[in-house]
Amino acid sequence: MTRHASLDLAEVYPPFGVRITCGPLVLRGITDDDIMPLVEVARRGLHDADEEHSPLSFDWTAAPPQYLAINYARWAWGQRYQFTAKSWILALLVEHDGEVVGVQEGRGEQFARVRSVSTGSWLGRAAQGKGIGTLMRQAFCTFLVDELGALEVTSAAFTDNPASWRVSEKTGYRRLGTHRAARGRESVTDQVMYQLTPDTLVRPPHPLQVEGAEPLRRFLGLDSSAGGTAEQG
Ligand SMILES: CC(C)(COP(=O)(O)OP(=O)(O)OC[C@H]1O[C@@H](n2cnc3c(N)ncnc32)[C@H](O)[C@@H]1OP(=O)(O)O)[C@@H](O)C(=O)NCCC(=O)NCCS
Repeated sequence: MTRHASLDLAEVYPPFGVRITCGPLVLRGITDDDIMPLVEVARRGLHDADEEHSPLSFDWTAAPPQYLAINYARWAWGQRYQFTAKSWILALLVEHDGEVVGVQEGRGEQFARVRSVSTGSWLGRAAQGKGIGTLMRQAFCTFLVDELGALEVTSAAFTDNPASWRVSEKTGYRRLGTHRAARGRESVTDQVMYQLTPDTLVRPPHPLQVEGAEPLRRFLGLDSSAGGTAEQG
């Protein structure tokens, strides 16, 4: 019987192998073992129980408890399935002092050419207002600029989400203006748009230790070396 050399899943799907350490924070790829701890954080709440004023464009946390876990798992699995060099969401679990607190993510469309990422993030309520959101965004944007060669990072938040604006401003994003955006099932509200460029980036106060950037770059089609891209069928 032929035996294959054992291959780590992170070698096949590099987002699993990304690990960014920054002071008390670790940002790392979301594996199946992380899904239920993240659901638990979401179940305890990310915001006031008022879907109409949710800070999230689509409030997945408002699903009845019996659906929240399977919806979130489907989302996580779907992102992996749909991750290609042309269109991707890199979602990283955030740990603070070893405790799972939330997610920091970035979406790239035609990134190898456009070099732009839009960011989104969430933290459980217990972790909010302590500077964690700022630190994780600064660490993630530094990773995007230094390791992936991002030339622009954008963010958008509803006009009643000053915590998100402040995090953007403390990371070096500039306010561009507002645009109309869908909110919840029926309403439309203005969103404030932000843009960061490498020259405006505010780096975190701790050095970054990064693992797994090189295989990710290859997967995203950023390194010319052969093999391992997300486009292989
Ligand atoms: C948005 C979020 C990621 C920010 O993370 P955080 O850890 O709470 O943010 P920080 O503690 O790093 O910084 C928050 C800043 O907003 C400020 N802030 C918070 N509420 C505010 C308010 N009502 N008015 C004015 N400023 C406010 C804080 O004072 C702080 O700024 P400062 O350091 O200058 O004082 C987090 O609150 C969250 O997950 N919220 C729910 C989900 C969400 O809104 N996601 C973003 C969708 S666009």
